[in-house]
This record gives sequence, C-alpha cells and structure tokens, in this order.
Amino acid sequence: MNNINVLITGADKGLGLALTEKFLVDGCNVFACLYQEPSKTIMNLKETYAKQLNITRMDVASDQSVEIVKQELKDETIDILINNAGVHFENSYLPLEQVDFNVALQTLNINSLGPLRVIKAFLPNVEKGSTKVIVNISSEAGSISDNFRDREFDYCMSKTAINMASVILQKYVKPKGIKVLAIHPGWMKTDMGGQNADIDAAIAAESIIGLIDKYKKDIDGPLYMDYKGNKLNW
Ligand SMILES: NC(=O)c1ccc[n+]([C@@H]2O[C@H](COP(=O)([O-])OP(=O)(O)OC[C@H]3O[C@@H](n4cnc5c(N)ncnc54)[C@H](OP(=O)(O)O)[C@@H]3O)[C@@H](O)[C@H]2O)c1
Repeated sequence: MNNINVLITGADKGLGLALTEKFLVDGCNVFACLYQEPSKTIMNLKETYAKQLNITRMDVASDQSVEIVKQELKDETIDILINNAGVHFENSYLPLEQVDFNVALQTLNINSLGPLRVIKAFLPNVEKGSTKVIVNISSEAGSISDNFRDREFDYCMSKTAINMASVILQKYVKPKGIKVLAIHPGWMKTDMGGQNADIDAAIAAESIIGLIDKYKKDIDGPLYMDYKGNKLNW
C-alpha cells in the first residue's frame, strides 16, 4: 500500500508513532493526530517526510477538538482510519474498593467513545477512500470469554465496548464497502506496556499494516484478532 491517506490518533509515541513511521516509509500520506504538542521525534519525521506528514492536534475525548480537525480536513479522502489513542491509568490496577469513577469515566471516554467520536466525524472521508478500512486498536483485555483478571475494570470494559462498537459498525458500513478491524497489538514495549513487554511497537505496526492489506476487501471476514492475525474470542 502506498500513496494513500491514513489518519492515526495518538500518533506521537508508542504504536501510533510506529504506525506513522511505517506508513511514511511505505510512501503513504499520514494525518498524525497528537494529543499534546509535537515531540522532537515526530518533528524529525516531519523534516524527512515534509510533504507526506500532516501533523495536527486532537483530543479524542473532546467533541470540539475532533470537530476542529474535521473542519481542517474538510472533504479530504481518508483511505485508512486508525483509532490508536488510548489510556490505561495506574488507578485501573487498584482493587474494586479503590476504583475511582472519575478516572474510569475518563478511560471510557477516551478508549471507547473516542474511536466512535472520530469515526462519526470522518466516516464520509473514509467512504471517499479507495482502501476503506477502519482499525480500532483493541486489546485481548477486551475479551469477555478469555478474561483472567480480577481488576482493571475500566480498561477491560473500555476495550470490550470498542469491540462491540466495531461489530455494530461493521454491519452499518458493510453496504459502503468499508472493512472494520478490532486488533490486539500484542504486549508492546511502550509507555503503556512497559519495558518488560514482548515486542517492539514497530513489529506490531508492521504486522497490523499487513493485516489491513490482507483483509481490506474481506468485509465478511474476521474482525477481532491479534497482530499475528490469530482470531480472538469475544
Ligand atoms: N502497550 C501494550 O502492550 C498494549 C496492549 C494492548 C493494547 N494496547 C493499545 O494500543 C494502543 C496504543 O498503545 P501504546 O502502548 O502505544 O500506548 P502509549 O505509548 O501510552 O501511547 C498512547 C497514545 O495515546 C495518546 N492519547 C492519550 N490520551 C489521548 C486523548 N485524549 N486524545 C488523543 N490521544 C490520546 C497519547 O498521547 P500523549 O503521549 O500526548 O499522552 C499517546 O500518543 C492503545 O489503544 C492501547 O490501549 C496497548
């Protein structure tokens, strides 16, 4: 896949940054949506890929912030939309008795409603694209049948919710020829995953791009899988 337009949320570090870099190397144009001011790393990429990389700010938890980017992009084509932005607050690891519902609400707003908010805003742009793929970066933590945890309520619930959104969305956008994927990127060495994790974000990014290419026209094919393409249980 080259010379296509890709929008990625949470693009300034971790998996979002790795996806941004890989798509740029492949010759794609990237709308990199950042929560905060651009980091030095992303500005270095901007220097190398000045024409291909378009940096903008977006808080996926804010209707207003998403609307501003929508106005910026107007009727620009988006071939692939990747909802990558996510949070996993330390508070999530505390037992039930210490759950803070303000933090939990924030997690749900970013991880579950955030992707839906972005899709609602940019669906017309994806419809105009040629690749027509929406990727929601989910997690194995969203699987109900394979759950082994006795805490992390908000994070797990937020990923289960985005899985459900993905299922509903796939039915809604099927007539438009759009493929939806909910992908667990693996346990990655990022700020969220920590340095003891299994894989570098670059490995996950490369595999995810391979899966997008493999399943982009397979509207009836699998939806929830890990970065290796193994089907996951809901
Ligand atoms: N790491 C893992 O092992 C793992 C495993 C399973 C699933 N995942 C999922 O993979 C995705 C990427 O994770 P990661 O490991 O790359 O995490 P990360 O390194 O913590 O990066 C998360 C990104 O999301 C951004 N973000 C946070 N709040 C945001 C908001 N309100 N609006 C827009 N962007 C926001 C962050 O921006 P700032 O840097 O500015 O805060 C950052 O760019 C997440 O959806 C995560 O749940 C990760």
